[in-house]
Amino acid sequence: MYPNLAGQKGLYLLKQLKAFKHKERTNPIMLSQAKGLSDQDMKDLASYFNSLR
Ligand code: HEM
Repeated sequence: MYPNLAGQKGLYLLKQLKAFKHKERTNPIMLSQAKGLSDQDMKDLASYFNSLR
């Protein structure tokens, strides 16, 4: 039910976080996660999850 993000491509993660924030991808849980994030926050998160195995 909840996707495992470890090792996912950074560009993909960044795109999904932006999509949740801008309601282009609709999910109430992820909207509440993404709405307070800056562009830099989203880049940092994408880079972090990309760095995990
Ligand atoms: C309580 C914490 C969280 C819960 C319960 C949760 C739940 C979910 C759910 C249910 C989805 C699938 C949404 C859909 O397509 O309908 C999802 C996707 C996603 N979540 Fe979260 N999430 C949480 C926290 C986070 C955090 C902190 C991040 C920060 C990176 C994050 C990043 C993502 C991303 C990038 C996706 C898209 C994954 C994909 O397309 O494969 N989530 N999350």
